[in-house]
Amino acid sequence: MMKPPRHIAIIMDGNGRWAKERGLPRLKGHERGAETVRAVTEECVALGVEFLTLYAFSTENWKRPDEEVGGLWVLLEHFLAQELPTMMKNGVRLRAIGRIHELPESTRAKLAETITATSANKATTLILALNYSSRIEIADAARALAAEAKDGKLDPAAITPDTLAARLYTAEYPDPDLLIRTSGEMRLSNFLLWQLSYAEFVITPKMWPDFSKQDLRGAIAEFHGRERRFGGL
Ligand code: IPE
Ligand code: IPE
Ligand code: MG
Repeated sequence: MMKPPRHIAIIMDGNGRWAKERGLPRLKGHERGAETVRAVTEECVALGVEFLTLYAFSTENWKRPDEEVGGLWVLLEHFLAQELPTMMKNGVRLRAIGRIHELPESTRAKLAETITATSANKATTLILALNYSSRIEIADAARALAAEAKDGKLDPAAITPDTLAARLYTAEYPDPDLLIRTSGEMRLSNFLLWQLSYAEFVITPKMWPDFSKQDLRGAIAEFHGRERRFGGL
């Protein structure tokens, strides 16, 4: 079997439409979406994918009704509590990127607890993008660089892409090789703008709750069929 992509990033989209098509409340779609997270994570472990980054909540998603936003945080807390034994069994190390300090207190606590409990796991690193905005991430990195320069700790002339990348939330992870977006939308929605510079994109019409392990394998097969040139010949 071919070596899987080292890092897969997924924009998990279509939970609301999945629910609407069935006459269900949107939160039911998110609940089913959480089951897909479980399956996809399991499959990444089975395939030997080192990093899996999932876009779970954008800074723009606060615009949704309070009921949906609150429901998502409760769902995340339940998910983390429920999945911990499986993560331990499968060697999944949980991490998070985004403005985590702005999440509800109980969600932050559960998240911190799970990150700590799984920190020594060695199979797949599952990175949840929560209250994430790529533009804010890059602006924060630029501010950090400016502050260091002002304090005389950094020579502006010495700033390179690596200098900036080292100040992103993702500093310790390799860039994603493959980006998957479900529900057929062909946009990035403020996700990993810097890090996806050379990723291969696979867009599937399936709604996230319907996305299966088989679909993940299909996306990886499509990835293997691509020729990555990185600007060369
Ligand atoms: C993705 O599904 C999950 C989140 C953004 C939290 P959506 O909730 O965006 O589903 P659609 O796009 O409305 O169908
Ligand atoms: C992107 O999905 C954010 C997440 C998957 C968490 P959205 O549904 O929020 O994106 P838009 O609004 O269609 O661009
Ligand atoms: Mg959506």
